[in-house]
Amino acid sequence: TIEHRVDELLGQMTLEEKIGQMNLVSHGPPLRWEDLSEGRAGAVLNFNNAADVARAQALVQQSRLKIPLLFGLDVLHGFRTQFPLPLGEAAAFNPRLSALAAETAAKEASHVGVNWTFAPMADLSRDSRWGRIVEGFGEDPYLGSVLTAARVEGFRKGGLAAAAKHFAGYGAPQGGRDYDTTYIPRAEMYDTYLPPFRAAVEAGSASLMAAFNALNGEPSTANAWLLTDVLRGQWGFDGFVTSDWVGIGELINHGVAADGAEAARKAVLAGVDMDMMGQLYIEHLPEEVRAGRVPESVIDESVRRILRTKFRLGLFDRPAIDPTRTDAEFPSKEARRAAREVARETLVLLQNKGDLLPVKPGTRSIAVIGPLADAPQDQMGPHAARGHKEDTVTILQGIRQRARSAGIAVTHAPACDLMCRSTEQLPAALETAKRADLVIAVFGEPQELSGEAASRAHLELNGKQIEILEALAATGKPTALVIMGGRPQVLGPVAERIPSILMAWYPGTEGGNAVADVLFGDVSPSGKLPLTWPRATGQLPMYYNRLPSSRPTIPDNRFTLQYIDEEITPLYPFGWGLSYTQFAYSDATIARQRLDAGDVLEVSVSVTNKGSKAGQEVVQLYTRDPVASRSRPLRELKAFEKISLKPGETKRVTLRVPVEALGFHLSDGTYVVEAGAIQAFVGGSSLAEAVGEAEILNTIRMPPQERR
Ligand code: IFM
Repeated sequence: TIEHRVDELLGQMTLEEKIGQMNLVSHGPPLRWEDLSEGRAGAVLNFNNAADVARAQALVQQSRLKIPLLFGLDVLHGFRTQFPLPLGEAAAFNPRLSALAAETAAKEASHVGVNWTFAPMADLSRDSRWGRIVEGFGEDPYLGSVLTAARVEGFRKGGLAAAAKHFAGYGAPQGGRDYDTTYIPRAEMYDTYLPPFRAAVEAGSASLMAAFNALNGEPSTANAWLLTDVLRGQWGFDGFVTSDWVGIGELINHGVAADGAEAARKAVLAGVDMDMMGQLYIEHLPEEVRAGRVPESVIDESVRRILRTKFRLGLFDRPAIDPTRTDAEFPSKEARRAAREVARETLVLLQNKGDLLPVKPGTRSIAVIGPLADAPQDQMGPHAARGHKEDTVTILQGIRQRARSAGIAVTHAPACDLMCRSTEQLPAALETAKRADLVIAVFGEPQELSGEAASRAHLELNGKQIEILEALAATGKPTALVIMGGRPQVLGPVAERIPSILMAWYPGTEGGNAVADVLFGDVSPSGKLPLTWPRATGQLPMYYNRLPSSRPTIPDNRFTLQYIDEEITPLYPFGWGLSYTQFAYSDATIARQRLDAGDVLEVSVSVTNKGSKAGQEVVQLYTRDPVASRSRPLRELKAFEKISLKPGETKRVTLRVPVEALGFHLSDGTYVVEAGAIQAFVGGSSLAEAVGEAEILNTIRMPPQERR
């Protein structure tokens, strides 16, 4: 068995060789290539080509025990073929497509020897100021759990072990500032922030990455509650945990370790098995063990987890990689097809006044305005692994190609540079716009403003964009806006002045074709917002599944939940997204009104396509526990299904929630489903209509270990 092989190997290892397995390094310093032949590294990162992988493997063959390496890389949304960024992908509300994107990326990466990805990011976030919100699934724990599991599974099928990250609470830094501290009550951790990680573990994530942040004053990288009590004790995880990049040394910055030795000791004792780029384990743990400050059994346990993972992945039995392999054969036709399919479903039609979209027959000319229309690098988004901008079909190219087949002329003017700092080029853009029948403006966040270390305090469309868009609207030309970016951006007057707005996120290699498919009506948009879109930055953090207020909003009553200078509502709610057709919901019913443990809340509804175009709809079920021993969210997404409907067609959809999923956690992790009423709401967004109530007959309590 694997455990037997692990023990046998462990029995042959010196302390130094064991600690070598716990060392994760990149090609440059501090790695000396001879470390690989001397057993001083268990894993490497950022090797993204077969020649480097082969060289490292050959060096390992010179080491005493020849233990194969893990080759880790940030394969987040593609390797060579770029899929939409995870936040955009979440808007598809389609786990099949999430798995397909992950599997395609994994196949490409593993072709050149990568076997481990630092993904998926399972951090829930309710604050779009945080730049890394783009790498996740948005604000909802249920959607996040479903998609995180799908991604882990997809990576595994394509040949990559996952490292779900960043464990935990990293998505809720104060003020939306990357790397800042996080305060989340434990019960809230269990209810909201931990479920996607648990889903990752249950889907088979081989490893987890500890987060940079301090959680309630205890840095995640030295947090024994998270890494040992919850992860190993309550969830039974037997894979390994890596730190983030020099995360162990940063315990000194957090003020919980005086020096590297103490940082290494605290991290390993808390449950961090691998040191990413810090060299602190390799430098200090041998002495910490010899001095009796770290029991050797702790080291053995960490190494056991790492070796177990390597055996499970079959690394000991794999032949060395052929160094001549390249990624030149990608993006394959199949990968492009997948990337286009995924990208199409991620596009969210936020508004479409007067049905301006899709492009109408009879249109003779289109002016495409904006710097992001033809920005292949930005279209790939942050963390584009081996993405080549030359592979990318830009939005301008996609529109041009599709327009050609319809005999429509296309002109383009950027109106400003990517950061849109000046209006110098605006007059030329306005001239271009005036000569066309239809304007398609493409603006938003260049990728530099999104991702890690890209916190923003002002979420307004960047630079001079609002001014430019208002000037375009003032030409009187019908104008549609395509927004690119890694988060909702504050639209200000633009939401009023521009009738149609399509959120395109960073749509990836095939993004231009996908956007054209939707703009021209070859497919109806079907994306739904995986997070709340605010009207103003000052509304953040903002999310739909909040607790009720002591004074619910009453318009014109100042002493209720209000802002005195902004609406209290978002611009677009969670789950929102229009289609080119209309869906009508009717005859919603609850199958059984009296529910016991082991039962399932079953809500059925008929959905009819009332329009003249085919379309897809995400049917969403929300619940609320109106009276409980603790305040419960106003709504919680509990199930969804994406369906396709032809014009005039009706489908009966049944959404099911086990009674065991209708409860909440106490701060020790105990899960409670309380007897009493549960309300259900069903519809096409978080504004879903009330269906009625069911009654849970008996209170159920589950200790953390038993909860699945
Ligand atoms: O995976 C990343 C992590 O998300 C941020 N720090 C660096 C890691 C490896 O590149």
